[in-house]
Formats: sequence, structure tokens, C-alpha cells
Amino acid sequence: MTSSDNRPPLLELTDIAVHFGGVKAVDGVSISLDQGRIYGIMGSNGSGKSTLLGAITRLNPLTRGQMRFDGEDFTKVRPHQVAHLGVARTFQTVRLIDDRTVRDNVQLGVDTALRSRRRELMSSVDEVMERVGVTAVQRMRPSELSYGMQRRVEIARAIVSRPRLLLLDEPTAGMNTDERDEVSELMRTLQQEGLTQLLVEHDVQMMVDVCDYLFGMNQGELIAQGEPEAVVADEAVRESYLGKQAKDA
Ligand SMILES: Nc1ncnc2c1ncn2[C@@H]1O[C@H](COP(=O)(O)OP(=O)(O)O)[C@@H](O)[C@H]1O
Ligand SMILES: [Mg+2]
Repeated sequence: MTSSDNRPPLLELTDIAVHFGGVKAVDGVSISLDQGRIYGIMGSNGSGKSTLLGAITRLNPLTRGQMRFDGEDFTKVRPHQVAHLGVARTFQTVRLIDDRTVRDNVQLGVDTALRSRRRELMSSVDEVMERVGVTAVQRMRPSELSYGMQRRVEIARAIVSRPRLLLLDEPTAGMNTDERDEVSELMRTLQQEGLTQLLVEHDVQMMVDVCDYLFGMNQGELIAQGEPEAVVADEAVRESYLGKQAKDA
């Protein structure tokens, strides 16, 4: 489905770097994401995963590098244009507005879309809440919900704008196994609708189960990429990530 058709990659990053003073959080990453696939980034804490997602959405200014999105130059777009062009993300730490209801928080995702699309998107708020399982709590405040439910609200807010690329930063942190499986299932149905996804997640099993392709990062650099089973078994990845995790456990 990917290289057989002649579509350009949906997202192409070339030599991306994000430095914070002397900290080379991301340093020389080149990756390419094809339309409609689910990608994952593995790497120990501090390896630059969240910063790379922030580079794509322009939360983190680029130190160097080029990006193309859907065949167009994406290097100089402004942060607010990122959402208009169809890139949405969820954050590693929950970012919901607590004096607003769940429903209001989901609707905020509509506001990130172009004005001309908002009326149409408003009509899909109920459907999106139903899909991610937050309909029953729509009148509640985020702080009244479990952490797992708060994460669902974030996912709803991200997909209500009907993005073409969804970046998910540890979306299942704080969830139990059943809730995690539900997120995997949701990701698969979104994939069937053509949504390209880039997932950062510590659960190796989930990464292997849900992703079509994995990237391994260490100290801001890409150290491996390929089929999930191969990347998980890769020596450098095991050394930097799995070994470390085993040591931490
Ligand atoms: N805003 C920032 N200012 C300074 N250093 C940062 C900032 N954000 C991230 N870093 C540093 O960049 C490195 C990569 O962080 P991060 O991208 O959050 O890693 P990961 O998501 O893989 O755990 C870390 O050393 C972190 O301390
Ligand atoms: Mg992170």
C-alpha cells in the first residue's frame, strides 16, 4: 500500500535538530512517514521523543533541518498553521482546561481547525466523544475523572479536527491493560479511515501490536528503524532502552 502507489510520503523530516542551549535534544533525525500507517518511536527517557513531536508541531523551534508535509515545504509554517494543515497531537502530560466540561474541552479541538470547517466539525463532536468513550462524562470536569479517562478526552480533542497526521505522546500512561487495548483498537479504526499516526509509548508489547514500523532513538539520534519485531530485537535498541528498562525494574 505504501511504495506501490506513487504518493509522496505524508511527512518527510530531513536532518532535524532541536537544541536547547547545549542540550542536543534532537540532533540530525531524518524520517519519512507514509500515508495511512502507524509508526512508533522507542527510546529511554530523555532520548528526544517528545522534542521530536514538538519539532513537528513547532512547539520546539528547529535548530536546523527541513520538513515536507504532503509534498509541500513544511519547514517554515507557523505553530497555528500546523493544525490547519492537519497535524494534531496529544501531550505526554494531560493538558485539559479544568474549569470547563469534558465536552467543552473536546470542542476546543474544533477551534484549531480553519474557520470554514468549524461548523461541519462541530456536528461530529458527539460522534467523536462516543468513539473514545467519554459521552457519559461529558458534563463533568477533567479533574473529576480518572487519569485514563482524561487521556481519552485528550485523544477526542485531537481527532475532532479530523487531522491527517496524529501524534500521540504516551497516550496510555496511567491506563490499565484493558484501557490500553481500547486505545490500540481506536488507533486501528482510525487507521482504517486513513489516518497516519506517530506513537510514543513505553509499552513494548503495545508498540509491536499496533505499529507497522518503529524508530529507535537514543540521545537525540535515530539508532534503528524497521519492522517492529526487528527494531525491538535490535542490539543498539536493547542496549539503550530495554537494557535500561530491565535495570530500572
Ligand atoms: N524546553 C526544554 N528546555 C531545555 N531542555 C529540554 C527541554 N525539553 C526537553 N529538554 C531536554 O531534551 C532532552 C530530550 O527530552 P524529551 O524530548 O522530553 O525526551 P523523551 O520524550 O524522549 O523522554 C532531555 O535531556 C530534556 O531534559
Ligand atoms: Mg517524552
